[in-house]
Amino acid sequence: MTVSPTSEAIAARLAALEDFPLLQGPRVRLRGPRDDDAPALFALFGDAQVMRHWSRPPMQDVAEARALIADIRKSMQERRLINWVIADGDDALIGSCTLFAFSAVHRRAELGYALHRAQWGRGIAREAATLALNWAFDHLGLHRCDAGIDPDNQASRALLHRLGFVTEGRQRESFFVGDRVTDSELLGLLASDWRGGR
Ligand SMILES: CC(C)(COP(=O)(O)OP(=O)(O)OC[C@H]1O[C@@H](n2cnc3c(N)ncnc32)[C@H](O)[C@@H]1OP(=O)(O)O)[C@@H](O)C(=O)NCCC(=O)NCCS
Repeated sequence: MTVSPTSEAIAARLAALEDFPLLQGPRVRLRGPRDDDAPALFALFGDAQVMRHWSRPPMQDVAEARALIADIRKSMQERRLINWVIADGDDALIGSCTLFAFSAVHRRAELGYALHRAQWGRGIAREAATLALNWAFDHLGLHRCDAGIDPDNQASRALLHRLGFVTEGRQRESFFVGDRVTDSELLGLLASDWRGGR
C-alpha cells in the first residue's frame, strides 16, 4: 500500500529542491529555462493559435519572453510554481509545462502546458505531462492534481481525459480570454487514479 506523505513532508521536498528537476522522457525532456530559450519561447507565446484559449494576449516582442524567463526563475526560487521548458532531442524549446498553485496543506497543484503548433498531434504534450505528473505524484507525493480549461479547448480536454483526468464541474464566466468571458471546465486527477491507470 502506498502511504501518502504528510503536508510537512511535501513542503520540505519542495523547499529542498536545488533547481528545476530534470525529467527525461523518450522524446522530450523537462528542464529549467535558459537565456537562449527566449526566441523559441516568444515563438510559442506569440502565436495567436497557441494563445487562443489563454487568459492573456499573444506576446508582441521577444523582450516579453525574456521577462517571462526571469519571472519563471523567480517563481521557482520562491517555490510558487515549477514552469519547465519542454525540450526536444536537440534540447531546443518546443513547449512549456507548469505545476502551479501548490498547496502542501491540501497536497495538490494545478497543471498547465502549451506546445509549438508544429508539434501538435504527435503525443508530445502527453509525454511531457506524464513526466510532470510522475514527478508530482511519485516524487513530491501530491494527492491530487487540478486543471482548468476553456470548455471550447477540445485538444486540452482530450489530452487531460487521455491522462485520466475527470471533468468534475464548470464555473460560469470565470475567466477572460481577451474581451470574451468564458466558463471554466474543472478537471481533477487523484494519485490513486494515476497509479491505477498505469
Ligand atoms: C493542448 C495541447 C498542448 C495538446 O498537445 P498535443 O501534443 O497535440 O497533444 P497530444 O498529441 O499529446 O494528444 C493527447 C491526446 O489528445 C488528443 N488531441 C490532441 N489534439 C486534439 C484535438 N485538436 N482535437 C481532439 N483531440 C485532440 C490526441 O488525439 C491524444 O489522444 P490519444 O492519445 O487518444 O490519441 C496543444 O494543442 C496546445 O499547445 N494548445 C495550445 C495551448 C493550450 O491551449 N494549452 C492548454 C491551456 S488549458
